Amino acid sequence: MPDETGNVEMETIVSLCKRRGFIFPSSEIYGGLGSCWDYGPLGVELKRNVKNAWWRAVVQERDDMVGIDASIMMHPQTWVASGHVEGFSDPLVECKACNRRWRATDLNGNSCPDCGGELTEPRLFNLMFKTFMGPVEEDASIVYLRPETAQGMFVNFDNVLACSRKKLPFGIAQIGKAFRNEITTGNFIFRTREFEQMEIEYFVKPGSDEEWFNYWVKQRFDWYLHLGIKQENLRLRQHGKEELAHYAKDCYDVEYLFPMGWAELEGIANRGDFDLAQHSKYSNKSLTYFDEETGEHYTPYVIEPSAGVDRSVLSFLVDAYDEDLAEGEIRVVLHLHSELAPIKVAILPLSRNEKLVPLAREVYTELRRNFMTQYDDAQSIGRRYRRQDEIGTPFCVTVDFQSLEDNQVTIRERDSMAQIRLPTKELVRTLQAKLGGEPFATQDLWTAKTVDALEE
Ligand code: GAP
Repeated sequence: MPDETGNVEMETIVSLCKRRGFIFPSSEIYGGLGSCWDYGPLGVELKRNVKNAWWRAVVQERDDMVGIDASIMMHPQTWVASGHVEGFSDPLVECKACNRRWRATDLNGNSCPDCGGELTEPRLFNLMFKTFMGPVEEDASIVYLRPETAQGMFVNFDNVLACSRKKLPFGIAQIGKAFRNEITTGNFIFRTREFEQMEIEYFVKPGSDEEWFNYWVKQRFDWYLHLGIKQENLRLRQHGKEELAHYAKDCYDVEYLFPMGWAELEGIANRGDFDLAQHSKYSNKSLTYFDEETGEHYTPYVIEPSAGVDRSVLSFLVDAYDEDLAEGEIRVVLHLHSELAPIKVAILPLSRNEKLVPLAREVYTELRRNFMTQYDDAQSIGRRYRRQDEIGTPFCVTVDFQSLEDNQVTIRERDSMAQIRLPTKELVRTLQAKLGGEPFATQDLWTAKTVDALEE
């Protein structure tokens, strides 16, 4: 239940996700595995839609971006050059009484938050997961599960440059899994040990980096707003000098007001020439750019917008969650942007009457060719609307007895609960337009008629 400020509790979201098949605890029948989660039938659609919306905005609709999909395991030298072997660690403290481990930077005092026990001195704990490649478990065969997708793009800088013949500024985008052996996890899918990132490495001429940095901060902030996140729940926070990562010249976090408070959703960093220069040094390969206009060779600077897929999914769910009153009852509704909604249209025959079913199935077959569509004929129309509202389905299409005579059906919109009636042959085109953002207004040509009236 949202509190008086409209904020929803994490428990409400976790419970909705489990009940409706968005997200389940991993390997739950064995008691679950700490901080690992499985995306269910609706979650996988939502997550895929988030990734597609990102890819569309940063690759498909731009001239200056291309995508790659690098392997999760990379040459171990990658992580020496990037600084992860040496420095990708958190200070870990352990409670001498209950043995619980904590990230020192998460604590306010000097005692264990659980039992008040005395804590050990902090020691550095590397967050990369290690494994062995091949049958022999020896130091020479150690490989790491990548802790970020970024390095796959730096090591492919030259390959991409050669095949795409891009000129600066240009960027590489990638979506993929990353792994971190986080000391403390929690807050549902906010901090986990296995997660997905959507990262851009945008290469620019040194000197133009600050301008491009500001450009990307705005682009990325606006992306969340465009997909429906409320302005008051989103803010930018610049990193202080002491907080900047070893490679960063400047960094902004896009923060979201999660149920547990403001926290990072995405980081946008100006990484200077650190990464290309390091990989060039460790690989002995030149990773410079030849500028045809000036006749110079130089190492490009890079601007890196780095977003978490799972954190984005969480913020979209939290932001969309609402409870309002419909016909005197509390209605749970997810006001998800239509681009993100897992199911775009539900087809609801007024009843299971054998005369209605063939037409309803025919409409369903036509709709599912175009949209993720669900067919639901169980229980009353009201109950079915509630089920679709709760999973964020923007439109429900109802087939009734009158449809058999006039070949018209009713569309009902999730947010306003308004309804319009229209010829079946207009359905796909109309839904395409409405899902694309056309306002849902009753038009003269259609007789507005509520399905409830038809049901009587
Ligand atoms: N290449 C830069 C980089 O990885 P980061 O701030 O460590 O920067 C970027 O991570 C984004 O990845 C974060 O803003 C967050 O959305 C996501 N992320 C990082 N660690 C995560 C974790 N343990 N669980 C879920 N998402 C995480």
